[in-house]
Amino acid sequence: MKITLSEGTWDQSATDIVAIAIPSAKTKLSRALRRIESVTGKDSIKLLASDERFEGKASQTLKVAAAGKAKARWLLLVGIGEEQDPQKISWTIAHAVASGAKAQKTAAVELPEVTPDAVRAASQGLMAGSYRYTEYKSDKKAESTLSSAVILDAPKDARGLAAAIRAGKAIGESVNFARDLVNRPPNDLNPITLARAASSESRKLGLTCHVWNKARIEKEGMSLLLAVNQGSAIDPRVIHVVYKPSRAKKKIVFVGKGLTFDAGGLCIKPAASMVDMKCDMAGAASTLGIVFAAARLKLPVEVHAVVGSTENMTGAKAYRPGDIYKSLEGKTVEIVNTDAEGRLVLADVLTWATRKLKPDYMIDHATLTGACMIALGPWRAGLYTDDDELAAKYLDAADGEGESFWRMPLDSDLRELLKSPVADLKHIGGRYGGSITAALFLKEFVSETTWMHLDIAGPAFVERAHGRLPKGGTGFGVATGVRFLESL
Ligand code: BES
Ligand code: MN
Ligand code: ZN
Repeated sequence: MKITLSEGTWDQSATDIVAIAIPSAKTKLSRALRRIESVTGKDSIKLLASDERFEGKASQTLKVAAAGKAKARWLLLVGIGEEQDPQKISWTIAHAVASGAKAQKTAAVELPEVTPDAVRAASQGLMAGSYRYTEYKSDKKAESTLSSAVILDAPKDARGLAAAIRAGKAIGESVNFARDLVNRPPNDLNPITLARAASSESRKLGLTCHVWNKARIEKEGMSLLLAVNQGSAIDPRVIHVVYKPSRAKKKIVFVGKGLTFDAGGLCIKPAASMVDMKCDMAGAASTLGIVFAAARLKLPVEVHAVVGSTENMTGAKAYRPGDIYKSLEGKTVEIVNTDAEGRLVLADVLTWATRKLKPDYMIDHATLTGACMIALGPWRAGLYTDDDELAAKYLDAADGEGESFWRMPLDSDLRELLKSPVADLKHIGGRYGGSITAALFLKEFVSETTWMHLDIAGPAFVERAHGRLPKGGTGFGVATGVRFLESL
């Protein structure tokens, strides 16, 4: 999408549609509506708003045909509730106009203030809102959206605004890249094609991308990942993307769960739970999105994305409950439920990254447990770490991006639930605290590394659009990860 700046005001904009923020507090609401009527000359807007019960509440919108002195074809009134933060308001109205656009091709947005932060948020919102997954739609036009947008009221000599647009677009592109990967059907996106997608994007951005085939994974000794792969007809891959700028002082490693399909293995999922399990590589997608965004923004930190990818299927060679495998770390693991496969894949990758990359911070994204959704609902991710400073920094970044996380306890009291009578540990701890014991299992494989685990099972893929999350793959975690990297 083309995003440009204009000194013009909303009434002068000749775009298909103009988006205007409307607050919900009574006097502000009526003042905002009156301001519009003073241009459109229609006192019907207030009437329409009250008829349609449009009260300026967050997530409410009202589309009205422009008239009078207004040059656009449509006005989009976007409720912002009591929101005061200019960045959040900017994101919201930009997102609303882009996500609602069908036949409209050009839009203008009026921001509460035209600062680099607000312009960047608006650009990100435009990109996020214009996302459509159309790869398999024959009639792509039916799903089309804006081709260009204008940010109004830009001061003539404003500095840093063009760079802010570029940054917002770069992040938006990376989020949408992650969404595409998650939405792609599992007969198309498998470990091999996921690796190809990562390599080709890496090549475009001048990044190094190492892809390990099965033989290499065997040589490295990742037996837990290989165990999960046994039931699949498709070979596994480990994907390692490196962004290494010259002046970097810190090294951050992101690790992603890349299950391109999770049937549950022999402990097969019921149909209703399996239907969306193409989303089980969303952690991998977010991880890749973050490293690509870091490169696009030329951030001064070294960033790695390491993804373990396989399917979890029921083939004749499938791993079984009762099997015991020796992890790369050295600990032996008793398999109890083959549907708890993500932690096995992650365990070996975390061990490898800990030993070979020696990161300052290691952060994994994984659609790891249904239990995390039971605990936090469908739209919030669980955040686990022993490092208070890292947690605080990350939650702060998340707040800035409007993504919802909640810090969960890495409660060592539950560690005994992972004791196995026959091996060093088993990989699940029972129903209660299922998201916590999954995190505790991962912790066994990170040694002394400062590590954080993000269980994104809920917000990575949603049944219907909610707030910042579009239906289907959401790219959840990319924007927060990028903002965190910027804060270092
Ligand atoms: N990929 C699932 C978790 C999941 C569930 C992601 C729903 C997204 C939406 C994971 O591999 C899984 O199956 N976990 C099991 C673990 C259990 C067998 C201990 C679960 O959560 O039920
Ligand atoms: Mn599973
Ligand atoms: Zn899974």
